[in-house]
Amino acid sequence: MPKVTFKSDRPSENVTLEVKEGTTILDVALDNNIDLEHNCGGSCACTTCHVFIREGMGHLSEMEEDEEDRLDTAEGLTLSSRLGCQARVNGDILVEIPKRTQEFRKAEQH
Ligand code: FES
Repeated sequence: MPKVTFKSDRPSENVTLEVKEGTTILDVALDNNIDLEHNCGGSCACTTCHVFIREGMGHLSEMEEDEEDRLDTAEGLTLSSRLGCQARVNGDILVEIPKRTQEFRKAEQH
């Protein structure tokens, strides 16, 4: 089974999980209490599930045109960007939750 490792500012979210092949990164996160934003509910209509793939980019499903178009509007876009709700896991990956999401969480707590 593929392994997904998350990197986050929350120590409890720095975990490595074995997942079923074909699961989206967003589903892996939500099934394991990792707080990845998903304002549109996973329908590729926002960019709040934006993550950086630090290792294993080739172990994800190919990017569809919808995701590419949506990602173009994401803040802080890089070559390692994917939308968590669209990228399906086919092999081991390392996923970083962007700082913007982490800052948003901090703002929510105050
Ligand atoms: S949750 Fe909105 S695009 Fe992924």
